Amino acid sequence: MDNVFYRNIKKEYTEVDRGEGIYLYDTDGNRYIDACSGAAVSNLGHAHPKVLKAMADQAEKVAFSHLSRWTSAPIKELANLVAGLTPGSLNKLYLVSGGSEATEAALKMARQYFLERDGKSGKYKVISRWKSYHGNTIGALSMTGDKRRKKYAPLLLDFPHIAPAYCYRCPFGRNPDTCGVDCAYDLERALKMEGSDTVAAFIAEPVGGAACGAIVPHKDYFRIVRQICDHYDILVIDDEVMTGFGRTGAMFAMEDWDVVPDLICAAKGMSAGYSPLGGVIAKDEIYNAFKQGSGAFVHGHTYGGNPLSAAVAVAVVRTLVEQNLAANSRNVGEYLLTQLRERLLPFWFVGDVRGKGLMQGVELVKSKATKEPFPVYLGIAEKITVTLMKHGIIVYPGSGNADGENGDQFLLAPPLIITKDQADELIEAMVSGFADFEQQIGIYR
Ligand SMILES: Cc1ncc(COP(=O)(O)O)c(C=O)c1O
Repeated sequence: MDNVFYRNIKKEYTEVDRGEGIYLYDTDGNRYIDACSGAAVSNLGHAHPKVLKAMADQAEKVAFSHLSRWTSAPIKELANLVAGLTPGSLNKLYLVSGGSEATEAALKMARQYFLERDGKSGKYKVISRWKSYHGNTIGALSMTGDKRRKKYAPLLLDFPHIAPAYCYRCPFGRNPDTCGVDCAYDLERALKMEGSDTVAAFIAEPVGGAACGAIVPHKDYFRIVRQICDHYDILVIDDEVMTGFGRTGAMFAMEDWDVVPDLICAAKGMSAGYSPLGGVIAKDEIYNAFKQGSGAFVHGHTYGGNPLSAAVAVAVVRTLVEQNLAANSRNVGEYLLTQLRERLLPFWFVGDVRGKGLMQGVELVKSKATKEPFPVYLGIAEKITVTLMKHGIIVYPGSGNADGENGDQFLLAPPLIITKDQADELIEAMVSGFADFEQQIGIYR
């Protein structure tokens, strides 16, 4: 018994003791592969000596200074480093403390940009997609398109949502041979219906994450989205909170489609879980509109731009680059995905295994033939997570992906430092966990 108000008070939580590399240990000494890096966060694994040293060094100098009074060497160094990694003129880093703060800040930045640029006060809506996740604060949740919104619906902003780019469950009933990338053109339909003069931005995750389990769009999807947004004077907000900093095999996932967004939201992998951090990376054009306008982005959080988190992120990003971990993510990711497809798809309840780099998803279904999901009350995603934990693997479950209520999937997103041998260890443990799970759910077949 303790006094922590947990996320789910009815659930029993295992107590973590320590972490080392890709492994976590509980207080009974059991070892687990952290196969989801928490929630696609711990990209360098646990207890990385370089990051720990940077953290201690900075804490000794100064851990906190408020951004309304001070700049600091770590934030300048981080912004320069990030500018060197982003495409086009995405050069200016606005710092916050996490992913929801980043998407929330991007929403406000997009709105204020049009006011600063030419006083277009009518442009404020942000269009997003169903089966997306952009965070839990009210603005971020308004953009989010999954069941996390339902209980709070009366509090949310009235923002439009379009169809997801979910090929396994194509909202337009197409298959790869007949695909016309209708999901991208759905944006144009929404813009016409809403009136593009009321819309400031479109936000999307390049590879869908928490709400749907690593769905990868058609290769032309973001190119078409970019064209539509340019035509209607709409900003593209690329939510790379989960995908950014190497997770999908590129530094930023959008690079793989040669599309340059206007704003990038980053968090998780930027400080790899060693200290809370998030940011919005803005194009020079957007920054300059603020500079030539009021000069002040009317926003900010107390911990945004604290030197400790920034020093941690400098060490993280340097390590990512020096060790070429995006390439490792691509290579080991490809191997892992091929193996998992081969070994997991034969199970009767595995509908799809998908992903990009080391961001992968497994979707569980009641019927492979019809893609019928398990009913939500069975809690299949949570149950398989518990089973896999008994087999020494931690995954990140989600539900509601099929129709907003039903549907089970989990994310696999091991630290980017994972080796091929460790991937083999993960695959073997995964297969034995699935065989065990098959025994448990036989009655639902
Ligand atoms: C794409 C995306 N955006 C935003 C968020 C919210 O980030 P945070 O949980 O740090 O607030 C998440 C978290 O999973 C995410 O995956």
